Parts: sequence; C-alpha cells; structure tokens
Amino acid sequence: MKHFINLDDLSNQDLTSIVDNAITLKKQYKEGIVNQQLKNKTLAMIFDKSSTRTRVSFEAGMTQLGGHALFLSDRDIQLGRGEPTKDTAIVISSMVDVIMMRVSSHDDMKTFANKGSVPIINALSDESHPCQLLADMMTYKEHKGSIQGKTVAWIGDGNNMCHTYMQAAKAFDFKLNIATPIGYEPEQIFIDNYAEHISLFNQASEACNQADLVVTDVWASMGQEAEQKKREIAFKEFQVDQNLMKNAKTDASFMHCLPAHRGEEVASEVIDGKQSLVWDEAENRLHAQKALLLYLLD
Ligand code: CP
Ligand code: NVA
Repeated sequence: MKHFINLDDLSNQDLTSIVDNAITLKKQYKEGIVNQQLKNKTLAMIFDKSSTRTRVSFEAGMTQLGGHALFLSDRDIQLGRGEPTKDTAIVISSMVDVIMMRVSSHDDMKTFANKGSVPIINALSDESHPCQLLADMMTYKEHKGSIQGKTVAWIGDGNNMCHTYMQAAKAFDFKLNIATPIGYEPEQIFIDNYAEHISLFNQASEACNQADLVVTDVWASMGQEAEQKKREIAFKEFQVDQNLMKNAKTDASFMHCLPAHRGEEVASEVIDGKQSLVWDEAENRLHAQKALLLYLLD
C-alpha cells in the first residue's frame, strides 16, 4: 500500500506517469468520455483548515470517476473533540478506500498512515502540499513541455509550498532558485536534503534571473494570520510585479497555488496578465488528483 504524504514518497517515474495520466484524463473528460474506474469507492476528506480548490477538486474528481467523497470537518467529527488520532484512523479506514487529510500537523498524517489500513493523501500540512505540485507540474508540461533542466524561481516565504517545490526540483530535475527575506528561509532539513537542487537568495531579482517559471504564494499562510502585519513589512520587496518578471526569460510563466492577495505577494498585472497560468493550474488540481487516486487505488 502506498501513501502520498510527501512528493518523495513516490518514485520519479511514478510521479511523471501520474502527471502524464492526468493530461490524458483531462482530455478524456473534455471529450465527454465517462470513466467509472472508482465505482463504489469512497474517499474520506478530513479538514481542519479552509479550502476551496482542494475540497472541490477531490469531491468532483471522485464523482467523475464514479465514486463518492465524504467531507469531514474537524468541527463535525469527534477528532475535533479530542478522540485520539490513532482511534479515528483505525475506524475511518475500516469504512473507506482512501483518506485525504488537510491538517496542520504533519505528524497526525503519519499516525493515520501507520495506524490506518488505506492510502493517505496529504492535501496540505504545515510542512508540505504535494497535491499542488502534481497540478503545477502538469500545467507546466501542458503549456511548455518538459520542465527538466529549466530554472524555477520561488519568491517569498520558505513555507509548505516552497518545501514541496524543493522536492519537485529533485524529482522532476529542475533548478530551483529560492528568494526569501532573511529569517523566512525554508526549514534547514529541507535545505540540507535538497541542497544539490536549490540556490538560496535574499534578492528576488537575482532568483528570477533567466527563470523559465516564477512562483509565489501568500506571505502569511493559514495559521499565521496574527503575523500578517509583521510579514507585510518583512516581505515588502518580494512582490512579483512586471518589473521583477523582467529579470526572468521573456517567455517565462507565472504560477501561484491560490488563494492570492493582489497587491501583496503578486501584482494584478502579473497574475491577471498573459504570463500567468493560474487558472489552468487551479483546474488541473481536479485531473492531477484523479490520476493520483487511480494510482493509489490500483
Ligand atoms: N491551492 C489550494 O490548495 O487551494 P485551497 O486552499 O483553496 O484548497
Ligand atoms: N502556504 C499556503 C498555501 C495555501 C494553499 C497556506 O498554507 O496557507
């Protein structure tokens, strides 16, 4: 049984084949071909944080594949009232075929993987967001072809998305330039583990130099709302605007996992401009996760 808690849980070949299958599934869906490969299968979706894209894409994805998805907010299930994580994992996994979790604690996901009896999918933790990277890699491939050997610039916070880009740099073999304010670098363990694939900068313009893809994310992630004002000051020089994009290649693309804050991490002229791939990136969550579900439930 396989889990998808971090991108590097799967081999590079398997990640590439999921991305390729996602592109095929998208084409089939647009052509109206019905695919019932997950008929009678149930996905449990456990959330202790908000979501638009993740919830809708997993739920719609299960419907499109003939299965069913259960939305379980921690406000509704006993987990939120203190039922042990281990007990919840044993019980829910005895009734469903696969579990998707968006919870702050990465360790809680590992408990589910250890104590449960079905595949566990990380739909965002404080540490990583691997489902988003499947969609991002799919989107790049659809628009630009292989990302192998390309240069990607990560601008902003060394957060969960940045960590997953570091893992993707290794798996998909691209060069990752990371620009963060001092004090907002990715976690040291990620820097150590992915050192060969990354370069760290404190100037956004340097990281963007000759980049094929520029990526950013919110300055304050979910759970960091109290730091919003402090972070606005620290990240002031890290907005992705047209001026910054001029350092990248002229045909560079822009991505953002969304939700976005125009006027903070990204200027409207970029996210709503012609280099932006954000709408396909969001839509592709649906097809990338269908390919992931088929892979895990095969
Ligand atoms: N990108 C992403 O995961 O979006 P949601 O928080 O809306 O699920
Ligand atoms: N870094 C963001 C990503 C949201 C999809 C957060 O954790 O809130």
